[in-house]
Amino acid sequence: MILAFIGTAGSGKTTLTAEFGKYLEENGYSVSYVNLDTGVRKLPYRPDVDVRDDVTAWELMEEGLGPNGAIVRSYDLLVPKVNDYAERIRELDGRSDYVLIDTPGQMETFLFHEFGVKLMEAFPDALGVYLFSPEILRKPTDFCFALFFGLMIDLRLGITTVPALSKIDTASVDELRKYLDDVEYLTARLKLEPSTQGLLAYKLCSTLPELAPPTRVLYLSAKTREGFDELETVAYEHYCTCGDLT
Ligand code: GTP
Repeated sequence: MILAFIGTAGSGKTTLTAEFGKYLEENGYSVSYVNLDTGVRKLPYRPDVDVRDDVTAWELMEEGLGPNGAIVRSYDLLVPKVNDYAERIRELDGRSDYVLIDTPGQMETFLFHEFGVKLMEAFPDALGVYLFSPEILRKPTDFCFALFFGLMIDLRLGITTVPALSKIDTASVDELRKYLDDVEYLTARLKLEPSTQGLLAYKLCSTLPELAPPTRVLYLSAKTREGFDELETVAYEHYCTCGDLT
């Protein structure tokens, strides 16, 4: 089973990769780890495949590039090797129960760069986990944004993607769950929004049941391991029941 953790900078991808991996190992599974972040200095897990063996963003910065330029350039340099990486990940998949992929710190590097898109084309059965943290959920339209973003990742990378609220130990989740677990409730609430964005979100959310299977949202904490059993179940169901994640 290949799981790719995708999310904005700081959403918790690396910590979750390490902690969920430990959890799986403690439960008797063999786990391989893939680091795709050229900009990370220290990892809390030992990667079996690591893009930094080929290039790091900081060595490119030492050559004079700025931080964003260095990151983009690092993935430009990795594009010719994308098939090698796919082959190495496939090998890991052949000998481990789980392969956990920790994607680049900046999500756009993965979603907008040829390297990320081409790499995931090789793994259409992988499961994407889109991590978003509670602080982005401030108003009803934000919930619609988060749910749609999971679908956008699916569209872009061609992999089933489940939305996952990360760092739930930092927020009171009950209120957030009302919106995330019940699209009808969210849609009804959005109908009351007077703004243009409210109308847009209302229309988008009204189409969600038609556009997407009723995927459940995961609630995860890499600190307390809350939700890890659910993530394991969702991964199992993805692989064993052909993508029915209701
Ligand atoms: P970059 O790759 O560096 O962009 O970030 P990332 O998405 O890999 O996030 P990372 O795992 O580095 O976590 C960012 C910060 O959030 C760190 O300070 C983590 O300790 C913290 N963090 C990650 N997961 C959790 C969590 O479940 N709960 C809490 N409270 N903090 C978390």
